[in-house]
Amino acid sequence: MIAPETIREVTDRIDIVDVVGEFVKLRRRGSNYLGLCPFHGEKTPSFNVSQSKGIFKCFGCGKSGNAITFVMEHEKYSYVEAIKWLARRYGIAVEETAMSEEAREHMQAAESLYIINGFAQKFFHEQLLGTEEGEQIALSYLKERGFNRPIIEKFGLGYNPDSPDIFAQAAVKNQYSRDVLMKTGLVRSYQDRLQDNYRGRIIFPIHNNSGKVIGFGARIIGKKDKAPKYINTPENEIYIKSRILYGSYFARHTIDKENECLLVEGYTDVLGLAQAGIENVVASGGTSLTIEQLRLIKKYTQNLTIIYDGDKAGVKAALRGLDMALEEGLNVRLVLIPDGEDPDSYVRQLGADQFKEFIQKNKKDFILFQLEILMKDAGTDITKKNDAVNRIAESLSKISKAEDFTKQQEYIRQCSDVLKIDEHGLTNLVNKYRRDNLSKLEKKHHQGKSATEIDSAAPPDIETPAAEQEIATLDTGNIQERNLLRVLLEFGLKPWKDNWTIADYIFDEIQGFPFEHQDNEKLLEYYRRSYNEGSNPNTASFQYIEDKEMQELVVAITLTPYEISRRWDEKIPGKKSDSIVDRDVSKQDAQNSVIYFKLRKIKQMLEITQKEIMEADDFEDQIKQLHIQKHLKQEEKNLTDQLGTVIFK
Ligand code: CTP
Ligand code: MN
Repeated sequence: MIAPETIREVTDRIDIVDVVGEFVKLRRRGSNYLGLCPFHGEKTPSFNVSQSKGIFKCFGCGKSGNAITFVMEHEKYSYVEAIKWLARRYGIAVEETAMSEEAREHMQAAESLYIINGFAQKFFHEQLLGTEEGEQIALSYLKERGFNRPIIEKFGLGYNPDSPDIFAQAAVKNQYSRDVLMKTGLVRSYQDRLQDNYRGRIIFPIHNNSGKVIGFGARIIGKKDKAPKYINTPENEIYIKSRILYGSYFARHTIDKENECLLVEGYTDVLGLAQAGIENVVASGGTSLTIEQLRLIKKYTQNLTIIYDGDKAGVKAALRGLDMALEEGLNVRLVLIPDGEDPDSYVRQLGADQFKEFIQKNKKDFILFQLEILMKDAGTDITKKNDAVNRIAESLSKISKAEDFTKQQEYIRQCSDVLKIDEHGLTNLVNKYRRDNLSKLEKKHHQGKSATEIDSAAPPDIETPAAEQEIATLDTGNIQERNLLRVLLEFGLKPWKDNWTIADYIFDEIQGFPFEHQDNEKLLEYYRRSYNEGSNPNTASFQYIEDKEMQELVVAITLTPYEISRRWDEKIPGKKSDSIVDRDVSKQDAQNSVIYFKLRKIKQMLEITQKEIMEADDFEDQIKQLHIQKHLKQEEKNLTDQLGTVIFK
């Protein structure tokens, strides 16, 4: 038996694209990923994976499920084996009774690291708040910098006293293993004795997303030229630097709620902003972003706003890695803090509201920002200007066309404007880079298609015969009902108007119009119950329910061929650069789904009225039915007129 806690930890951590990507070459298509189905032989990819929803579905053979069922199917694992495999992959300790030797060792190593770190965190925290040295040296320093007690407690800060081995002794007294202690980096060995490694330093514990302490950053107090400012935990089973985002444990809910993640460099910046009530903030730890960190962010939001100190070298280094973010489909924006300040000092200077306003006003789209810097650098140098154009074209080529075609077009328009070059020429250059990227990929993965074939600007052709069949079996009423369910699952919790959510709006609108299809009705009730209980239902939350039928229905509903073609039709409403990334279609989508649902109902009623008119045996009755018909037709027209109009801005 695996402990439920472990299963939750695993399901929290799973990234389905990551998992499926181990076995299937995936490529971004629309809002999803597409590849050749591993469960049946096919030449044209119809195997879809949705990262945000955590599900896969093959439109060819119909197989569907989540990351766990994928591993089960693909590796022919039992449920327990699949969980174990995933846990190992994500370095999560599995709690269970019987397990393999290797797994046990890894688990034990990780587990004992967690235990010592937990102990150390409490020890240092106690030293900071409960001892004279802590108060006088460390706490007073933190207070002087403006950090208040609640924030110090929330983030669990601590202090390692300035003596050789006060922590080491406490740890040894607790009989922690010497080897594991060394692995944590908290101690070092000196003439065969253990000594404290972080002497006289402020301790910033680093939490994983389930709140366990995986490591520490230890900051020197004040300024000392010789010693390093920070000492960080060395890599071990649980501290894997490339995957760490400081503060994510405390920020994740707000990131989700605000649909934006602010990224700063330093631990103190996270604290400073959090103290000012800006909680959707994480720190990269001063190095350039890794793909793993970007993917972590993407689990919560597509919108990443990077806040950097204004010094130029840092910014340029940071920009280099950001094409990765484009490939990941993130909307990246940048804000520079004025020279000489950092986010922590600046928020203190401006106050929370003005700081937020500053961020809003000054955040620049990453591509346009990059363009600006490159152009400034180039000045009148033609060669440098040429390089800049190429550099931008390369960045633009990383935006997947299928996914964000309109976005790419809009960028090309804006960039050619700034660069004062022909839009058509820039498009060609972008396409050239795109082909280069693709042929590199092709070479790597021996895919059957030629690069130019894939490069065609046509919308993704996922309507394979099997997919068409599926469309045919979705008889009329079903489509509208499922569309409503899809909107509920995707956007139900988002605001509608006043205090209403989109779910409230939909429930209100469809009152008195029952669903015709039993399974849809069942899911609707399932959703309604869960919503009324306040348990925030969404696609992901339906992935681990017991009712397998419902689970499959959710997959079928939220991962359909329509989704992709629907996105394809989206137009950019305004011309402001922000509108490229800020468009929120939820309200319009909700309204349209209600209209389509009602139109279907009206059509049914019209059919009935028509029949009644034909069959009516007295004139009066016929007139009555004609009146109803006229009324229905008017209503039908009203609804059709509303389709596609944006109601709120
Ligand atoms: N950093 C590090 N080792 C160093 C210097 C910096 O690991 N020797 C990392 C830390 O994660 C630090 C981040 O880079 O938080 C940003 O560095 P810096 O701005 O110098 O530190 P702050 O945490 O902002 O500290 P302060 O505001 O107190 O100067
Ligand atoms: Mn700083």
